[in-house]
Amino acid sequence: MASPNLKKIAYHTLQQGKTLAGLAHKELSTKLMEVFAPDAAPDRFPIDKDLIKEVRRSMEKLEKIDWEEAEEGIYPQSQLFDAPWFEWAKKYPLVWMDMPLTWERRKKNKTREIPRGINEKDYPNYYLQNFHHQTDGYLSEHSAEIYDLQVEILFNGTADAMRRRVLAPLKRGLKKYLSQKTKTAKVLDIATGTGRTLQQIQSAIPEVELHGLDLSGSYLKQASKYLSSRSGDIVQLTKANAENVPFPSNNFQGLTCVFLLHELPREARQNVINECFRLLEPGGTFVLADSIQIEDSPGFTPIMENFHKIFHEPYYRDYIVDDINLRLKESGFTTITSESHFMTKVWKANKPV
Ligand SMILES: C[S@@+](CC[C@H](N)C(=O)[O-])C[C@H]1O[C@@H](n2cnc3c(N)ncnc32)[C@H](O)[C@@H]1O
Repeated sequence: MASPNLKKIAYHTLQQGKTLAGLAHKELSTKLMEVFAPDAAPDRFPIDKDLIKEVRRSMEKLEKIDWEEAEEGIYPQSQLFDAPWFEWAKKYPLVWMDMPLTWERRKKNKTREIPRGINEKDYPNYYLQNFHHQTDGYLSEHSAEIYDLQVEILFNGTADAMRRRVLAPLKRGLKKYLSQKTKTAKVLDIATGTGRTLQQIQSAIPEVELHGLDLSGSYLKQASKYLSSRSGDIVQLTKANAENVPFPSNNFQGLTCVFLLHELPREARQNVINECFRLLEPGGTFVLADSIQIEDSPGFTPIMENFHKIFHEPYYRDYIVDDINLRLKESGFTTITSESHFMTKVWKANKPV
């Protein structure tokens, strides 16, 4: 067995490797875009040296807490090394092949290229878009197949570490329900996408009955494939709009929602939070994770502005100034706390008893 120190070194080396790979990919793709599709390059806010230093510090803090919480036993250390490397290696060429299409979409400001055969009536209007300029939006297996890798590259290998920040508050909130013999707590991950948060919860809190929900059948199919390749109990996946979830009230003791709110217009954002309140049992815990916001991370404003300029994120600018605490309060949540980890802000809220 590797000594704890060796494991720590291995973890930091892995993170550094992922960061370098992400940066190299971005550098190369930007150079190629400048040569082959110069009109697709968006105006960007300059990122100065001080901000780059601040970004590095913030990533190091994220790595530190990610390691420490594994050491504390909040999740197994194996989580830190968990990634479908072979799958990602196979899919990497697809990311490159898709890139000229995303440049073209950005250049021509085409944001509503949805696959043929999709019944638009099944989806809210705000959903029928090419978020991040990605091919088919969230509505094809091709998109679902390369999503995880694209997100890892976007966040320079920190996406899973940021998702893991929901685990400590969720585990604390569920403590009173957990018994080792039976599954006494149910947890629903809203907008689960390809299921990475579900897998993290499954390995950190195997005692819970897990459910996932998303509006994309293709993403759920990918989640099902990914989760069934791991050990653990079956996770129940439901295709539905998070604004109107087909489960009874007070049905779950824990709820998570990762990286959804910034992709919703205001009204839908509030509807989803209200729905989370309805679904949660009194005393239950809601853990929400999404992008940092201007109010608590003003120094990172150029990065947030660039994200909105480079990727098609039509509701992001509104999200970064939105008062999520107030929205949580308005729907009835209490004991609301929040903290930021690199590019992610995590809220914890409870439904009062
Ligand atoms: C940025 S992805 C985040 C996915 C996942 N939570 C993660 O950590 O990668 C946003 C997800 O929200 C889903 N989504 C967007 N609007 C939704 C809605 N109204 N109801 C349910 N899911 C929705 C999309 O299909 C997509 O899978």
